[in-house]
Amino acid sequence: MDDKRNSEAAAQPQPAEPRRIVVRDSRDGDVPAMLAIYLHHIRRGVEPGVDPGEFETPDTEDIKRRRKNMQKRKMPHIVAEEAGMVLGYAYAVPFRKRPAYRYAVKHSIYVHNDHLQRGVGRMLMSALIDSCAAAGFRQVIGYIDAANRASLALHERFGFRQVGYLPSIGYKFGHWTDTVMVQRSLGPGGTEPPQG
Ligand SMILES: CC(C)(COP(=O)(O)OP(=O)(O)OC[C@H]1O[C@@H](n2cnc3c(N)ncnc32)[C@H](O)[C@@H]1OP(=O)(O)O)[C@@H](O)C(=O)NCCC(=O)NCCS
Repeated sequence: MDDKRNSEAAAQPQPAEPRRIVVRDSRDGDVPAMLAIYLHHIRRGVEPGVDPGEFETPDTEDIKRRRKNMQKRKMPHIVAEEAGMVLGYAYAVPFRKRPAYRYAVKHSIYVHNDHLQRGVGRMLMSALIDSCAAAGFRQVIGYIDAANRASLALHERFGFRQVGYLPSIGYKFGHWTDTVMVQRSLGPGGTEPPQG
């Protein structure tokens, strides 16, 4: 009887191994997956400064070069991966080129359309903030389309404050769009002079 039960149990489909999402530095091999995630969202118009109708697909070699360049400058360029698949990515770039702004970065974050609302954005944002702070940056800035509720909610959850509102700054899909500028301090922020 016991043997029968055991063999019946073995015949049942077993629950899959719980998958593990890891956040790690991006690699060249991730670029095509990152680009596919980006293109999907661009077509929906989430990127404040990009009109999908006027958009030229970025060159993968160019993205690879920029990725390496940013990592050399200790700016995070990270992916969330599960079972070998890129679920999302995030990176930081200088806020402005002028030297006085060298402690400020601006960031981007994108999650694969099939993996939204699973906590991937939270994992990436947390890792991005920690890496930026560890590298000595003091402020992180984001620009968000005012209609992008998911991104506004994610940023609010991580302590970003709205520091600017640019009405009718963009034009896409036949109407004017507003952009929200958000900012968060890192480590001691502006309360102490920078180290080095
Ligand atoms: C914004 C984005 C990165 C969030 O990623 P995600 O993995 O779906 O988010 P998470 O599951 O980690 O959720 C993070 C928080 O955002 C909130 N959120 C996520 N999607 C939401 C939605 N559609 N509406 C309202 N809130 C939402 C969640 O409630 C969650 O808050 P909580 O932890 O307090 O519950 C994702 O929606 C995305 O990639 N969007 C397209 C690209 C984009 O807009 N990038 C930002 C450009 S500025």
